[in-house]
Amino acid sequence: MPKTKVIAVANQKGGVGKSTTVYNLGAGLSMHGKKVLLVDTDPQGDLTKMLGHRKPHDMPYTLGNVLNDVTEGILVSEHPEILSHKEGFDFIPGNRTLSAVEVGLVNVMSRETVLKRYLDEVKNDYDYVLLDCRPALGMLVINALSASDYVLVPVQADYLAAEDMTELIGTVQQVKRQINPKLQVGGIFLTMVNDTNFRKDIVTAVKENFGKHLPVMDTVIPLTVRLAEVSTADKSIFLHEPRGRATESYRNLVKEVMEIGEKQRIKSAHIGR
Ligand SMILES: Nc1ncnc2c1ncn2[C@@H]1O[C@H](COP(=O)(O)OP(=O)(O)O)[C@@H](O)[C@H]1O
Ligand SMILES: [Mg+2]
Repeated sequence: MPKTKVIAVANQKGGVGKSTTVYNLGAGLSMHGKKVLLVDTDPQGDLTKMLGHRKPHDMPYTLGNVLNDVTEGILVSEHPEILSHKEGFDFIPGNRTLSAVEVGLVNVMSRETVLKRYLDEVKNDYDYVLLDCRPALGMLVINALSASDYVLVPVQADYLAAEDMTELIGTVQQVKRQINPKLQVGGIFLTMVNDTNFRKDIVTAVKENFGKHLPVMDTVIPLTVRLAEVSTADKSIFLHEPRGRATESYRNLVKEVMEIGEKQRIKSAHIGR
């Protein structure tokens, strides 16, 4: 079985399409026959809601409980927190218990790697583990980055130049230097692109600005009500509107994500021969 890839979807700005991306990317990878686990690390539980649990805060056992167990040194072999979704992937719900966990982490040894220690126990069953992050750069997001091989960054075209990006990339580099040397930016990609700035050359322009330092993906996710509907439709975009522009764009993202790391792998396999 190929090595599991853990991918965090992060941006400290809210409402840029992180949770929507985790859902659709997970569903798309799963349609390609990949074994996928989605993890809601956001205390708001938006991903958990999208996946059909409209009241995440009433759920008795979620990621927050698991992380509490890890910090208390409790190791369990049963995993009731891992739920299966009808579109073929597994997921771990999150809710506001995570806020308390985040506060409590201040006093915990190796507090940056609590999530990683848990995921190391379960991730080998999967090809991809996707971590949905809260819109912040606090300890939960640091935990997600510390547990990841790659980070994907959805951005809105208007915010590309913003300080937020610099801050996020700074945090990624800090985590890479101090905690998780294998962490890489898998790619940044444009989301919620409306018709006025939806031009063929937009990716080219972004690549010119950022491409020197960061991998910019070719995928551009359009701003469309079809994607907004996904949050309450109980269906990913692939089932909600199988033949639309949004589906096409997420299909493209799935393809690009499956290519992440492949070039290096082919190269090293070649060298190893
Ligand atoms: N490409 C899109 N076009 C239109 N609406 C979108 C798109 N992506 C997400 N949305 C909607 O915008 C809101 C924020 O998206 P969400 O994925 O929750 O962002 P984040 O997780 O970054 O806060 C949600 O209501 C979602 O349904
Ligand atoms: Mg979200």
